[in-house]
Amino acid sequence: EKDLGDDLAKVLIPEADLQAKVRELAGQIDADYAGRDLLLVGVLKGAVMIMADLARELHTPASMDWMAVSSYGSGTKSSGVVRILKDLDTDILDRDVLIVEDIVDSGLTLSWLVSNLRSRGPASLEICALLRKPEAVQADLDVKYIGFDIPNEFVIGYGLDYAERYRNLPFVGTLAPHVYGGDGA
Ligand code: PRP
Ligand code: MN
Ligand code: MG
Repeated sequence: EKDLGDDLAKVLIPEADLQAKVRELAGQIDADYAGRDLLLVGVLKGAVMIMADLARELHTPASMDWMAVSSYGSGTKSSGVVRILKDLDTDILDRDVLIVEDIVDSGLTLSWLVSNLRSRGPASLEICALLRKPEAVQADLDVKYIGFDIPNEFVIGYGLDYAERYRNLPFVGTLAPHVYGGDGA
């Protein structure tokens, strides 16, 4: 057990449930991509855990590449204007591309990414996201593979951070409001 002090409000998705869901998603992806040359595109840094676990559960041979993006603008709300910090090393023209994300919150990151990658002419382009928040319904996004729909709470762990911390928790939890000032502390 990692020492979280009082930072953790509760465990939202235990490690075993995450692993079971990742296996289930891998099964769906295997069924859909059999015989194809799959390229997984992970979005740094949040997607590292789901990417590593999902890739190992797949039976379909898959290449892995990464993008790092950053939203312009200050504050906690994404502006929807995204800047590429690290681009793909791979030319995705005519490739079967599956974007792997940890969470869809406003959906702005993925909306931008989909239009950016689509312009590069992939044979196919789909999304796999472990978590989805309620606000995501407002984004016009077709997430083909979704793990869990979760309530609108601040979630950490399994790749998800608060100020770069908590990513290495093996479960998804909610952060106690006092950590981010949510209760005025
Ligand atoms: C988080 C998360 C998604 C994005 C979702 O990444 O990992 O990539 O925000 O938010 P949205 O749907 O409102 O666009 P973040 O920008 O915090 O970078 P990180 O992955 O390095 O933590
Ligand atoms: Mn991210
Ligand atoms: Mg983050």
